[in-house]
Amino acid sequence: MAPKAASLLWLLMLISCASAIDRSQFPPPSEFLFGTSTSAYQIEGAYLEGKKGLSNWDVFTHKQGAIQDGSNGDIAADHYHRYMEDIELMHSLGVNSYRFSIAWTRILPRGRFGDVNPDGVAFYNAIIDALVQKGIQPFVTIFHYDTPHELEERYGGWLSPEIKKDFGYFAEVCFKMFGDRVKFWVTMNEPNLLAKFSFMDGRYPPGRCSKPFGKCAFGNSSIEPYIAGHNMILSHANAVSIYRKNYQEKQDGYIGISLYTRWYEPLRNSTIDLLAVERAISFNVPWFLDPIIFGDYPPEMRRILGSNLPQFTLKQRKKLRVTKLDFIGLNHYSTWYVKDCIFSPCELDPVDGDARVVSLAERDGVLIGKETGVSFIYDVPHGMEDVVVYYKQRYNNTATYITENGYPQASDIGMSANDFTSDKGRIDFISGYLKFLASAIRKGVDVRGYFVWSLLDNFEWTAGYTARFGLYHVDFKTQKRTPKLSAEWYRKFLKGSLVTR
Ligand code: NOJ
Repeated sequence: MAPKAASLLWLLMLISCASAIDRSQFPPPSEFLFGTSTSAYQIEGAYLEGKKGLSNWDVFTHKQGAIQDGSNGDIAADHYHRYMEDIELMHSLGVNSYRFSIAWTRILPRGRFGDVNPDGVAFYNAIIDALVQKGIQPFVTIFHYDTPHELEERYGGWLSPEIKKDFGYFAEVCFKMFGDRVKFWVTMNEPNLLAKFSFMDGRYPPGRCSKPFGKCAFGNSSIEPYIAGHNMILSHANAVSIYRKNYQEKQDGYIGISLYTRWYEPLRNSTIDLLAVERAISFNVPWFLDPIIFGDYPPEMRRILGSNLPQFTLKQRKKLRVTKLDFIGLNHYSTWYVKDCIFSPCELDPVDGDARVVSLAERDGVLIGKETGVSFIYDVPHGMEDVVVYYKQRYNNTATYITENGYPQASDIGMSANDFTSDKGRIDFISGYLKFLASAIRKGVDVRGYFVWSLLDNFEWTAGYTARFGLYHVDFKTQKRTPKLSAEWYRKFLKGSLVTR
């Protein structure tokens, strides 16, 4: 196609993709962060370089059958060697923030049982310096799923209260080394999903199964996900209190946590399904945020799990209530219908099963939203508003960042960049969710930022490279980055030059 015709086509597509949303519907850049989000294991690669230690994902992905396409993050998007190019991409998008995570084993290859690794520190210093130099605010996740393998071997990782010391030590090294330039810290990413996927249905390392779901037709003990969750909550609180005591005032920053945030609607207009929605919600974000903010688990969880849910001591409760957090990070992608499973026959699923509910995508043969490239995400834009309005009420309008929201494309070997760059579905998805986020802000919800997952196509955990979330396409053979239409859309949106209708 002649260049002129191609650019005309591109312009027409952009216009047709544009919805009634633009940058002016959000607070100005000095008060609102717009960024992209990634995590270390999913993009860095170089898993044996720079004196890095092995994480549990380095080991797990090398086991046969662990990952859908047999792949791993050994090379991933090779960000370790290409971070300057990637920061340039962000700069060209016009974002004012970048959320990324620090690989624990680059900084502490052996947890607290070894030395701080200067190569790892230098790597993140280089990233942070380059971001600051470009006027991009680093928004740093301390832990995004990649636990040091050694800690799992030594004491069972998150199943042991020992992890609190290791996590506190790691967090403190991060504050000490990077806190002069990092003003936003996320202690952990989606611990509420991690605890279930690692210890309930075994799909994440260490692959322990406590419930008869999917491939896990055997059991350890159904208490494990809740023990891990308990240790995660106490580890978060410990890191926050270290920050508050020794760093926050000097460094003038904020600290929070990011949680996996589903939204739920009753399948039927019945009391039992309305109650099921309440239960599903409790087992999702409040599992972590009620203890962190109010000092104890939601009553619904206690009622259902009884003694399978660990107890906080009085001292711990007090500490939680005092330590709290400065902001809530919500990773929101999808909404589900919820059906009661106490009075109705159901087949329980691992994500919501313990709440005695089943989450469904369909009501009377009609899907809850448009399908995307993966089975766990539907395009339900209004869920974004519902979710932030709900948590505004539950947590007294605590400052909130949407630390992840994004759209997956299904991918297969043999497909090329061209198959992915005309990503109208992603533009519709992001613009639709942003429209409802803007509406929530107009209703007074204290939302202060939004991050697209993700800057680049990357390693999508157990889905390997079969799902692409990037604004930029990555050819994993050549590592070439190609902007998708959504990257151009985001750039125009951020610049304030989107044509809307
Ligand atoms: C949440 C996780 O934080 C991230 O690692 C993952 O890739 C995205 N959701 C998409 O599933």
